[in-house]
Amino acid sequence: MPPLHDDAVGRLLERFGPPVDDVVHDMEARAARESFPTVGPAVGRTLALCVRLSGARSILELGSGFGYSAYWMARALPEDGFVVLTDRDTERLRAAREYFERGGLTDHAVYGHGDAIELAADLPGTFDLVVLDHDTADYGRGFEAVRELVAPGGALLADNVAVYGDVLTPAGLVATLDGEPAPTPRTEAVAGFLRRVDADPEFEPYLLPVDEGLLVAPRVR
Ligand SMILES: C[S@@+](CC[C@H](N)C(=O)[O-])C[C@H]1O[C@@H](n2cnc3c(N)ncnc32)[C@H](O)[C@@H]1O
Repeated sequence: MPPLHDDAVGRLLERFGPPVDDVVHDMEARAARESFPTVGPAVGRTLALCVRLSGARSILELGSGFGYSAYWMARALPEDGFVVLTDRDTERLRAAREYFERGGLTDHAVYGHGDAIELAADLPGTFDLVVLDHDTADYGRGFEAVRELVAPGGALLADNVAVYGDVLTPAGLVATLDGEPAPTPRTEAVAGFLRRVDADPEFEPYLLPVDEGLLVAPRVR
């Protein structure tokens, strides 16, 4: 899908942030080989920045794949921080575990295999950051499942909220990158999710125009 910015900006974003280690490099090669939709290097760095700025110690991610986004976040955690990775794909989660081991981050990871939304419903306590990256069409259900898991002062993050060339705001579909707005069931679902978060007085959503759009919604009360 087209990012919200051109390649030159993307390359510039990749010049900043922590150095890429061998594990990140291998995960990026694997994503390219398998055409697997990781969050990508620009959003990976932005997630790491969110962890650093918020001082997050606990992170829950819905839809971790083989761990690319979680790995970026884990590297930015403090000593006692952890990320819960979830995915229903056994093989991808196994690969994530291996990448975390290779990167010396085993102590910062907990793995949940199965439907991320069902898993979230069973989790005790709250998280400083909750990241949605499972299936954009299912973000609405994901939000309902994790809403109470976002600690006050923490934040909800959601990737790919400007999807398929359409730029969305909480008000709905506002523009396309090429031509007239053409809502699809998926863009309608994301628009519904954004409206829901925007209408929630406990969240204050912002859109970061990185790659396909990253929603950052601090829980303000
Ligand atoms: C976009 S990829 C995640 C990429 C990952 N965050 C990264 O940056 O590498 C979406 C992942 O979510 C998983 N997924 C989608 N819906 C799910 C659900 N309801 N429960 C668990 N996993 C789900 C898919 O198996 C896939 O691995």
